[in-house]
Amino acid sequence: MTDQKKGRAQFSSKFGLIAAAAGSAIGLGNIWKFPYITGVYGGAAFLFVYLGFILAIGLPVMLSELIIGRKSRRNAFGAFKKLTPGTPWMFIGSFGVAAAFLILSFYGVVAGWSIKYIIFSVTNHFQYCSPEQISKVFGSFIADPLDPLLYQVIFMLMTGAIVIIGVQKGIERYSKVLMPILLIIIIILDIRAVTLKGAGEGLRFLFHPDFSKLSFEGVLSALGHAFFSLSLGMGTLITYGSYVNKNDNLINTAIQVTTADTIIAILAGIAIFPAVFAFHIEPGHGVGLIFITLPNVFMQMPGGYLFSIMFFILLTIAALTSAISILEVVVAYFTEELKIKRQISTVLATALITLLGIICSLSMGLFSEFEVFGLNFFDLLDFISANLLLPIGGMFIALFIGWAFGKYKVIREVAHGGKLKGWFLQIFMLLVKFVAPIAIFIVFLQGLNILDIIVALFSGNH
Ligand code: PFF
Repeated sequence: MTDQKKGRAQFSSKFGLIAAAAGSAIGLGNIWKFPYITGVYGGAAFLFVYLGFILAIGLPVMLSELIIGRKSRRNAFGAFKKLTPGTPWMFIGSFGVAAAFLILSFYGVVAGWSIKYIIFSVTNHFQYCSPEQISKVFGSFIADPLDPLLYQVIFMLMTGAIVIIGVQKGIERYSKVLMPILLIIIIILDIRAVTLKGAGEGLRFLFHPDFSKLSFEGVLSALGHAFFSLSLGMGTLITYGSYVNKNDNLINTAIQVTTADTIIAILAGIAIFPAVFAFHIEPGHGVGLIFITLPNVFMQMPGGYLFSIMFFILLTIAALTSAISILEVVVAYFTEELKIKRQISTVLATALITLLGIICSLSMGLFSEFEVFGLNFFDLLDFISANLLLPIGGMFIALFIGWAFGKYKVIREVAHGGKLKGWFLQIFMLLVKFVAPIAIFIVFLQGLNILDIIVALFSGNH
């Protein structure tokens, strides 16, 4: 990365952007959240709907964010202020900053669990444990009032420290080498998982859809997760796009990042579900799914002790590169809009997010009685951020590019680093102008039961 005239950092190479954007996208969302919600919402049908959203909504919104970032050279909030001054578009940025806050608070908790599992792996804690015992260990660990907080704070301190060092050293260096190693370990896990006795049922669960089982709530979660997993809807890729060189090809970047992210999620699913069925674990078990399934797999494979340590170290690092990108949204906002010094911004944002995260963590035990709409605090923040704020942000980002930014600027911006084929532009504009916003809107109405509520209100009046 090189410093430019105006003192804004830039990625030094195309690989720098792809590595950083993939580092942001690939994280707990792929390996922890994707299998767990796929399990909750019934398997293959959820996966297929998710893939549809990735293609029709995720990919165009990703390209839109990169365009907005590169054109404006600003953070998520300032970008809209600069491109369309004096208009309400800049509120998109505020949604993003709010979403970043909420997401990182619970993300840090789960990343903390991953650190604890490095220690469990090193001490061979699960040796001789039955699947039930492994499940109990997880349950009592997350419900403990102190232990998970320790690891969450360690994780947040690491994230804050890397952001203080700066975009250049922090992001680019760490994400380049390690993700391919994680990929290899997941593939090795896949091989072990699909050769377990009873694996076929897990593969059927993941790939053989039964759409009658899918609820509207599941469809809303698939949409939310498409945004969550690709790091979209809150300006992460606007912020990263703002560091991109004029000549980089944004279309290729978007396609490569989306493909890598989706492949990792599916490979994680292939590692989990055969094992879930082989060890008679409930697929809809919830947030602990990978933490209770994978130790069983590691115990059943040669070299499992070492693989387990490596896996949880790399999972923590994958979480770290994503967490950095989330924190960066808040810090860039504090620094560029509120004019707070970068170091102070980082300390402040990290501290506030950690505090909120502590409440999330405690909602797994001490505060578990406290529920809103039937969700504990952890699930509530997850729901509000991933299923509401990100899709709303994404809808406005698509509308912004489709209607406010316009086709001609898109051509100019995107063609810098690559040729823009006519049909590609047509499809892209169609997706951002109509398909993505309308689809998001409908999924919202259905997923939140808004139509039912309106009908009920209406019929109640008569
Ligand atoms: N995409 C990350 C993951 O899958 O773990 C999480 C994330 C990062 C969500 C950045 C949103 C975001 F803006």
